[in-house]
Amino acid sequence: METIVTTDPMVAAEVIRSGGTAAFPTETVYGLGANVFDEAAIQKLFDAKQRPQDNPLIAHIGHLDQLDQLACDIPGFAWDLIDTFFPGPLTLVLQKGERVPLIATAGLETIGVRMPGLELAREFLTACGTPVVAPSANLSGRPSPTTWEAVKEDLDGRIDCILKGDATEIGLESTVVDCTGTGPVVLRPGAISLEQLQEIVPKASKASDADSGAALKSPGMRHRHYSPRAAVVIVKGAIPPGGPDSAFIGIDQSAGQFSNSLILSSVEEYARAVFEFFRECDRRGVKTIYCEAVPETGVGAALMDRLRRAAQG
Ligand code: TXA
Ligand code: MG
Repeated sequence: METIVTTDPMVAAEVIRSGGTAAFPTETVYGLGANVFDEAAIQKLFDAKQRPQDNPLIAHIGHLDQLDQLACDIPGFAWDLIDTFFPGPLTLVLQKGERVPLIATAGLETIGVRMPGLELAREFLTACGTPVVAPSANLSGRPSPTTWEAVKEDLDGRIDCILKGDATEIGLESTVVDCTGTGPVVLRPGAISLEQLQEIVPKASKASDADSGAALKSPGMRHRHYSPRAAVVIVKGAIPPGGPDSAFIGIDQSAGQFSNSLILSSVEEYARAVFEFFRECDRRGVKTIYCEAVPETGVGAALMDRLRRAAQG
């Protein structure tokens, strides 16, 4: 199929309304959208990404009044998080509404819901006239796309449309928070930190890796993720000597010995740049990417989570 590239959110929304798949920018990463109520469109989305069918999708909304089409029995603490952080890089896992097909949730009775902060995303979603399920717009297992060109690199000819916007502001996927128990539990760290959630709901907690319940609750976290073809090595302390086949990314100014290196001036910039750097290293045939470890506060926790997963891949 031919993949249309457009800057017009109305054109991309028409693709969704007519049962197609369209990638679109958000403030976190680019997503690949399909109408949440269209099972055939969702199947196309899984096929295009080669995504395992047991990995549930996040439903995106442009307006809060679309929430009751997706979720029911929303607890008070979840409303507090919605009031504070929507629109923004936060996904809440809620009891799913009856109309949501099980293909969207990979058979779960819960659904992840998020309202993106990026205005172009909300314009597009509002024009769709329906909530839109959207995983990151990469081939399954590859680093999430932070530019429209990265979407094209992975999915050209496999999806109907790309809504072209700027490079994404945050660069890592949303914080996923389970709200189906007695308090919020972070299943996937993101730009909204545990500390920020606790300011609103003090009992908010983090699912530990040892918590097999959490692994079951966020099935996506079991799968291979965020991996470039190059090996990823996390560096704590002394930086190894660089070679022609190796690269370095971090905030340490003394890594000049690498021919492929990217030195950022903050953890936020590092988070924004890391997935595109992984892709660029693959384009250049780099064999090993050294990634400087950062303190696990704020977005640093999310960045370290992604680096560890990439290092396992
Ligand atoms: O920032 C983001 O969240 C991006 C943009 C496009 O919005 N989307 C994204 O989607 O990262 P994806 O499919 O790559 O990741 C979805 C994550 C997975 O870890 C999945 O397991 C979890 O959310 N998830 C989705 N629905 C869930 C549910 N009902 N229960 C538990 N975890 C869920
Ligand atoms: Mg993804």
